Amino acid sequence: MGWTTRSEASPVKLGILISGRGSNMVSIAEACASPDFPADVALVLSDKPTAAGLDKAASMGIATAVVEPGAFADRGEFEAALIATLQQHEVEGVCLAGFMRLLGGGFLAAYRDRVLNIHPSLLPAFPGLDVQQKALDHGVRYSGCTVHFVTEEMDAGPIVLQAAVPVLGGDDADALAARILEQEHRAYPEAVRLFAEGRLHVVGRTVRIDTPRTDTV
Ligand code: GRF
Repeated sequence: MGWTTRSEASPVKLGILISGRGSNMVSIAEACASPDFPADVALVLSDKPTAAGLDKAASMGIATAVVEPGAFADRGEFEAALIATLQQHEVEGVCLAGFMRLLGGGFLAAYRDRVLNIHPSLLPAFPGLDVQQKALDHGVRYSGCTVHFVTEEMDAGPIVLQAAVPVLGGDDADALAARILEQEHRAYPEAVRLFAEGRLHVVGRTVRIDTPRTDTV
């Protein structure tokens, strides 16, 4: 199933979900600030009122909201509130950017094939948490980052883009994480551009990327 192209019309409205520092959110918001970018950030939404990214978003003039899971009886109600908040801001596509929660089928049905995530490893290697340390412990020579569509299974959805970085002698988890993060800040805005241009099509567990259209007059 594909995402209808909107690039000819108004920019695609994004909701970015964060739980922490929000550096990927900033990289997407900075890309969106450029006049020819086909998306806008309509809302930055956090499940934690203390997320540092909320202040960064506000300082960029972006609307923010907090929806705390503790205020709801169960995950279904929490996710319904997330959807309602995103819909109030007319969000059409969702970017998870350090959002530390699994989303369930109800949420994903509301935004089918319209939820992206970034993960700091070359998936399917090292899903989950503490993945830079896991990469070091495993002795891989390359790690990197992956932008993928979100499915109910953690870090397992169809892959959009990846960027590889070398693991260097003497790396600790922080050094490797910093090298990977630089690539995250390039890959995520690029994936968002492809998404907003309507060029990403989920085909089974893969993503087909259309080449840019060359319109002839
Ligand atoms: C990033 O490493 C991202 O890949 C992972 O969580 C981290 C979030 O960092 N999902 P930030 O909040 O975007 O700075």
